[in-house]
Amino acid sequence: MSVKEIFETMSYGPAPEQAGDALAWIVDRGARFGHFIDGAFTEPGEGFESRNPATGEVLATLTQATSSDVAAAVDAARLAQPEWEALGGKGRARYLYALARLLQKHARLFAVLETLDNGKPIREARDIDVPLAQRHFYYHAGLAQLMEQELPGRAALGVCGQVIPWNFPLLMLAWKVAPALAMGNTVVLKPAEWTSLTALCFADICQQAGLPKGVLNIVTGDGAVGEMVVNAEVDKVAFTGSTEVGRKIREATAGRGIALSLELGGKSPFIVFEDADIDSAIEGVVDAIWFNGGQVCCAGSRLLVQEGIAEDFHTRLKARMATLRVGDPLDKCIDVGAIVDPAQKARIAALVDASGGEVFRAGDAPEGCFYPPTLISGLSPADPLMQEEVFGPVLVSTTFRTPAEAVQLANNTRYGLAASVWSENINTALDVAPKLVSGIVWINGSNMMDAAAGFGGVRESGWGREGGWEGARSYTRLVDDLPALTPVEGFAGEKVEPVAVDRTAKMYIGGKQARPDGGYAKAVYGADGSLIGQAPIANRKDIRNAVEAARGAAGWAGATAHNRAQVLYYLGENLSARADGFAALIDRMTGETGGRAEVEAAVDRLFTYAAWCDKFEGAVKPVPGRVVAMALNEPCGVIGALCPDEAPLLGLVSVMAPIIAMGNRAVLVASEPFPMAALEFIQVLETSDVPGGVVNILTGSHAELAKPLATHMDLECVWSFSSTDLAAEIERGAAGVVKRTWVDGLARDWLTAQGEGRVFLDAATEVKTVWVPYGA
Ligand code: NAI
Repeated sequence: MSVKEIFETMSYGPAPEQAGDALAWIVDRGARFGHFIDGAFTEPGEGFESRNPATGEVLATLTQATSSDVAAAVDAARLAQPEWEALGGKGRARYLYALARLLQKHARLFAVLETLDNGKPIREARDIDVPLAQRHFYYHAGLAQLMEQELPGRAALGVCGQVIPWNFPLLMLAWKVAPALAMGNTVVLKPAEWTSLTALCFADICQQAGLPKGVLNIVTGDGAVGEMVVNAEVDKVAFTGSTEVGRKIREATAGRGIALSLELGGKSPFIVFEDADIDSAIEGVVDAIWFNGGQVCCAGSRLLVQEGIAEDFHTRLKARMATLRVGDPLDKCIDVGAIVDPAQKARIAALVDASGGEVFRAGDAPEGCFYPPTLISGLSPADPLMQEEVFGPVLVSTTFRTPAEAVQLANNTRYGLAASVWSENINTALDVAPKLVSGIVWINGSNMMDAAAGFGGVRESGWGREGGWEGARSYTRLVDDLPALTPVEGFAGEKVEPVAVDRTAKMYIGGKQARPDGGYAKAVYGADGSLIGQAPIANRKDIRNAVEAARGAAGWAGATAHNRAQVLYYLGENLSARADGFAALIDRMTGETGGRAEVEAAVDRLFTYAAWCDKFEGAVKPVPGRVVAMALNEPCGVIGALCPDEAPLLGLVSVMAPIIAMGNRAVLVASEPFPMAALEFIQVLETSDVPGGVVNILTGSHAELAKPLATHMDLECVWSFSSTDLAAEIERGAAGVVKRTWVDGLARDWLTAQGEGRVFLDAATEVKTVWVPYGA
């Protein structure tokens, strides 16, 4: 018999993992669980059953939290927070380290419990979920240790409300809890109702680690409990889950002045070029879509194969599908386990049944809550299954001809979480990676993650990064709390001075001076009541035109950092040449004498951001394995901003400069009471080689323009420094397309360092992590 024949005749025998210890852990606790509040488990109350999806058996009964449970958890967290923060980073590091050690000591218990509760293959729980959760606590013990040194001037936010999903129950807990605790926050966590057991087991080890009571609180229950956590008196909400719920949370937190991070769904492309190593790429597909049964937010669920190899690729993929084993998740030989719950299975089946595509399966799944690996082809890009997140072992496939078409198809989605690119040609791979609209790109790989590397998306996949310094920073605030903004009013006028030659101030859209669509203008008076000029009143349509012009100027993102710096220096030079005129205009508008200082600071600010253009560096993350993980600071796209009212020129420049320095385009609405300096600045823009559409300047009512900016589909971010309080309106409006917002309502002294620096650069960029494995 040849070796080949021996292999062909070999069949796998089951290799079941023993579940005894995990089941004993449940039974020891009476198989009924309360919440974990203030360092102790509460008495179990009314609740619901948690089942093993693979068998349908009841594992335990969990308690549905009431509003008083949630309030008690938040109170405990609030009470514990000052002392926890006062321990200092080094003091907290010891606890995080102890938690990591305990997770390691009880690794098998956690892995088996996770598999029983969630249905994922034990191989994955054992080799991926639990080790990565440990790694998160180790890594963040280190960040806590270094916090004071490396994040000077930053402090904890306070109490964090965290709501997590069911696909990686323990790992998601680690992603949320470790950075929050490391930075000195306390936490109220709500695990998903289908999978709360490992969180409760984690509470157990918090007790063993002697974690001070109230530092971590866990309340169980369904979405209603999640809502209560979101609506409680917390300082930050961190959510991972569906885009639909993420949107609701954005609405519920709008205007409350609390931090929010959203890690939502995806429909990530998996692009195979014809020069790819096909066997590796096939294994990549297996990891991308059949890992955790496709119940992964960053699952490579859209396969795009270059036409020349499509037939061969599909043939080989189908052959590989025939070797995937679906079944008992506790069996160490199983590739695809159970679907988390019959409701989720029904959802997957309904989406697939309605697809109308050509469905391939290499075999049936076993009876019960299992769904077989499925490949669907023949769909058009707009088909629901090409666009909707299935969250199951279902891959849709299509073909492309050229790299440009691959990029176009890949980006044809409302999501932007992850993408895989397969090519043996480094030029192709590194050319395509930056063009993909996504927070993560894996080259010749998929689903690579690590605590040191940022994870998170763009578009409707949410915002904010988890992991790395960038993730930890989002659990902190600047210590020097700035006062709240107070409304700034313009002046009324009585006298109308005749002017020798009438000069009509216009707005600036697409590199051209533009009249307002509505044809209205507002008289702007100086502090002495004299007429300075008429400022156009922009409306929704002007916003649309400006956004369109900005979109058309996408080439700016591709300009070199050196070139962008040159343009900013040139702006500074040209502004400086007109310093006298601007200083006089500002003094006249504001009735103060700070015009000269403002102009000088504005020139300086342009120089500062010119300097930053090629110095706001990315990083190479020291992740384990033979892989380079590059964190690139990418521009967000088009940023709309309501400029500060109180500093008519310096405010505009302080907002515009970081936006364009990082390669974004800007739609700016000038100071409402003092708009004339911004209109005058158009002439500086016109003479400084700023490509048309990169900066667009409108004037008008902040209150009226806030909504069109917040709800516009093609704007990536909205900032507001307006003295009119528009936080609720902007944050609620932005929920629709899950747009990033920056509205903190704080009064900055624009003349000082408060008005510039890394905070602005961070807000103007998104971190894209590009993973490039290596090895001959
Ligand atoms: P979900 O988004 O409803 O649930 C995630 C978490 O949010 C759970 O803890 C849930 O109890 C909680 N929750 C639900 N409604 C809430 C509300 N109004 N306010 C606060 N918290 C709330 O996800 P679900 O229903 O379990 O799954 C539905 C679909 O969502 C999946 O098929 C998948 O497409 C997507 N999903 C995406 C995830 C991701 O990692 N991006 C994770 C889970 C689901």
